[in-house]
Amino acid sequence: MEGRHTYDEGDVPKRNPQSVTLQELGHALQDCQRCRLASGRTQVVFGTGNPHAQIMFVGEAPGFYEDKQGEPFVGAAGRLLNELLEGVGLSRKDVYIANVIKCRPPDNRNPLPDEVDTCKPFLFQQIELIKPKVVCTLGNFAMQTLLGKKVGIMKVRGQAFQVQDFFVFPMLHPAAALHQGNLNEPLREDFRKLKEFLERRQEPASQTEQMNLFG
Ligand code: URA
Repeated sequence: MEGRHTYDEGDVPKRNPQSVTLQELGHALQDCQRCRLASGRTQVVFGTGNPHAQIMFVGEAPGFYEDKQGEPFVGAAGRLLNELLEGVGLSRKDVYIANVIKCRPPDNRNPLPDEVDTCKPFLFQQIELIKPKVVCTLGNFAMQTLLGKKVGIMKVRGQAFQVQDFFVFPMLHPAAALHQGNLNEPLREDFRKLKEFLERRQEPASQTEQMNLFG
C-alpha cells in the first residue's frame, strides 16, 4: 500500500527556476566551505550517474574511499549496491547516486544536524534538476531526510511514499547489511520490492480503467 507523505514546511527549497544545470551545481560546490566538514575532506562527493535518471539512490555521506575517489558508493557497500542493482536489471549508468551529505565526516561519524541542514538543500536541488520518478533512500538517515519524519526504517522499508511529484522508496543501507548479517536478506527483499514497484508502474492501465477514462 503506497502512503502519502509531504515535506514539512521549510524543508524544501523554493522550486528551482532551472537557472543552473546539474553540472554547474556540482561545480559550484567543489570548494564549498559552508560547514566544518570542509576542513577534513579530500574532495566534495557530489554524485554520479545518469543526469536524467528515473531512479535515484541516496545514501548518508561519503566514507574513506568515496572521499578519495570523489564518487559515492565505491567501497564495500558500493560493491554490494552494484550487485543489488544488477540483480534487479539496473546498472550504475541507468541511475543517479548521491548522498545527503557531500563531504566525509571525520572517522565516518554520523553527520550532525547543522551539517544536514547546510547540505540537504543541495540534495533537493539535485532532485529538482534530475526529476527522478523514484528516489530510493539507503538507510535511516536518508529516509528521514527525504520523508521529513522521524520514523524507523524497519517500519517503512520496501514501500513507496508519494512526496511531491516523485516517490520515496526507503531501503536498508548496504553497509548495515555488511555489518549485520541478519539484514542481508531484508535488504535483498527491499530490492525485490523495488523491482515489483517499478514493474507495476510500467503496467498499462487495465481495460476497465481505460474504459472509465473515456466512458
Ligand atoms: N555509505 C554512504 O552512505 N554513502 C557512500 O557514498 C558510501 C557509503
